[in-house]
Amino acid sequence: MSNIDEIIAQSSFSLSDLEQLLRCEGEDMLRLLEHGGRIKNLYSGNKVYFRGLIEFSNICQKDCFYCGIRHSNRSVQRYNLTDQEILEAARFADECNFGSIVLQSGENSSPASADRISKLVEQIKHQSKGRLGITLSVGEQPEPVYRQWFEAGAHRYLLRIETTNQTLFRKIHPQNLLHDFNRRLDCLHALRAIGYQTGTGVMIGLPFQTMGDLAQDLLFFQQFGIDMVGMGPYLEHSQTPLYKFRNELLPIQKRFELSLKMIATLRILMKDINIAAATALQAIDPMGREKGIKVGANIIMPNITPGLYRNDYLLYENKPCIDEEPSQCKGCLDARIAMADGEIGYGEWGDSLHFKTRTKT
Ligand code: 5AD
Ligand code: FES
Repeated sequence: MSNIDEIIAQSSFSLSDLEQLLRCEGEDMLRLLEHGGRIKNLYSGNKVYFRGLIEFSNICQKDCFYCGIRHSNRSVQRYNLTDQEILEAARFADECNFGSIVLQSGENSSPASADRISKLVEQIKHQSKGRLGITLSVGEQPEPVYRQWFEAGAHRYLLRIETTNQTLFRKIHPQNLLHDFNRRLDCLHALRAIGYQTGTGVMIGLPFQTMGDLAQDLLFFQQFGIDMVGMGPYLEHSQTPLYKFRNELLPIQKRFELSLKMIATLRILMKDINIAAATALQAIDPMGREKGIKVGANIIMPNITPGLYRNDYLLYENKPCIDEEPSQCKGCLDARIAMADGEIGYGEWGDSLHFKTRTKT
């Protein structure tokens, strides 16, 4: 029996165990990935849930050094979908029986934007007769705003911590209050206290990031008791400050493998959470998301942003499917999930079992 087999058979994991899992290669890696898939099937079945992703605006007040739509990138054509377009996209998700949508945008902390989002959440709930679950992913906001949206009907929130190494966090963000690690952490705590199913995540293969950092990220998810995780490879974007470190990154294929190892390891560590197969996986490998599903992920976020705008929401380059229309995505996904031995949870919210367990009275 190899060391890897011994580690994955344990019921709790130290930082060094996790680091060893993330470092494994060849046969050992294949065994880890297989085990991630097995644990998923055992604890959450082979269902894959869809969240129709609506990237409704790329206008952003933040200036993260890695992100293609950062405020300072003047070559981005900025857009903001009309309410009509957003409601239309939500109707499409409902017609496809996706069960849930994610409303995502750049960060905007104006009160007008907060009220607009509340109204949209209410309208989407109304038009889908309560069928669609709504996840928001619109950045750091004041606690009362999070509460207002929760009361309007949103019940999940995604806010990636990006990295839990605070020194690394400072290297990849400008030094100001808008980009403060503790502020982001406070937001995650506020979201959880309000009652949201709370999701976070990190980028994998950032410049200066170590295996120890990633192992620590996994422990953070566990210690926080997070309900959902979305994490994917860091992909360089030529119009961002981090691009100058492109020669110091792990080769792209290694970043991809490391992302799969992160998913499998997290699944072994947290058996009942929802784990998304990030779109960034598909930017590296055409079957990237399906491979993510095979090793432990159970959520896919098909992009249902109207085709016209997809080219302008480029957090990273080589983003997949930017020339498709939403209707083309559906048939494509059905076939892809079948290939990954998954079954689509049509018409279901697909809440994380972890959330259900932790809120049971
Ligand atoms: N590569 C990969 N992921 C990125 N994100 C932003 N820029 C990049 C990039 N260059 C991710 C961040 C953010 C999410 C919306 O997209 O983790 O939280
Ligand atoms: Fe921060 Fe896009 S500007 S993730």
